Amino acid sequence: MHEASGKSFAKIILIGEHAVVYGYPAIALPVKSIRLVAKLTPRADHQQLVASEFYTGSLAKAAQTNFAGIAQLLADLLAHFGQAQAGFTLAIDSALPPERGMGSSAATATAVVRAVFAACDAKLSRAELLAWTARSEHIIHGNPSGLDAATTSADAPQWFTKGHPTKPIAFPTNGTLVIADTGIPGQTKVAVAAVAMHLQANPRATKPRLAAIGTAVQRAARALAADDLVALGHQLDIAQAQLAALGVSNVQLDGLITAARNAGALGAKLTGSGQGGCMIALAKDAHQAAAIQTALIAAGATAAWQYDFAEEAN
Ligand code: MEV
Repeated sequence: MHEASGKSFAKIILIGEHAVVYGYPAIALPVKSIRLVAKLTPRADHQQLVASEFYTGSLAKAAQTNFAGIAQLLADLLAHFGQAQAGFTLAIDSALPPERGMGSSAATATAVVRAVFAACDAKLSRAELLAWTARSEHIIHGNPSGLDAATTSADAPQWFTKGHPTKPIAFPTNGTLVIADTGIPGQTKVAVAAVAMHLQANPRATKPRLAAIGTAVQRAARALAADDLVALGHQLDIAQAQLAALGVSNVQLDGLITAARNAGALGAKLTGSGQGGCMIALAKDAHQAAAIQTALIAAGATAAWQYDFAEEAN
């Protein structure tokens, strides 16, 4: 093993979260301006150390922490390459807010897999990358659709259906998304379980809600291809209404979504698992995006970013 790094990006789900777990499509975007780097440096003393915002300490002691999924992935990778006893420091440098629906765990897994393969001079296909990252995502999230891992390792907007390879899709030539953080961790596992409970307790009300999100995703894709931002914003609002009815929005998300709409957003919704985490708002241009961002910070957002369709996607 020699020194090597792996990179990945934040992702945001434009539309389709939760329904994607049940086989409906979703659209997600890698946000290339928000990056994560995992750097593996060999050590002569055989210690296996991790240094990150989520966990700092020995690999062996990570099992009882929220780094357990990544620690297991790393242990499996080392065993795969016959390096179970190798000494190293794994340093993770992340600009992604953790547990905010930006795919932080999948981005960490993606960068770690890339770093270990590079450190062992092994070629890594996309299918292998996704199979490896699925290991830690299962430990961390229970029943992930695979959307996070597929998008954090992609370099273009993706159309995703569970169990199928992702497809890059066309994006508009104008429009800006404002992404804002409630400052509250979203709990993907808990939120996914909450929707599963709704489905079990009340399938007659819940199934049509998931189907309505699926339809909104199809219509959003048509709006994207037609450069129709007003129609896209409308579909974002429809998805948000269904997500709120499924119990995955919360007071803070609702507050930011209302503030964005009052500031002129064409549509706004939570992004990711919800119950905290981030929201997105669609602005027709950079000027409107700036006004929405100011309104979101005034309404309590702890951080905000912009995603310009023309700059990032095309
Ligand atoms: C989480 O980022 C997205 C969800 O749809 C869960 C998943 O797709 O695994 C809520």
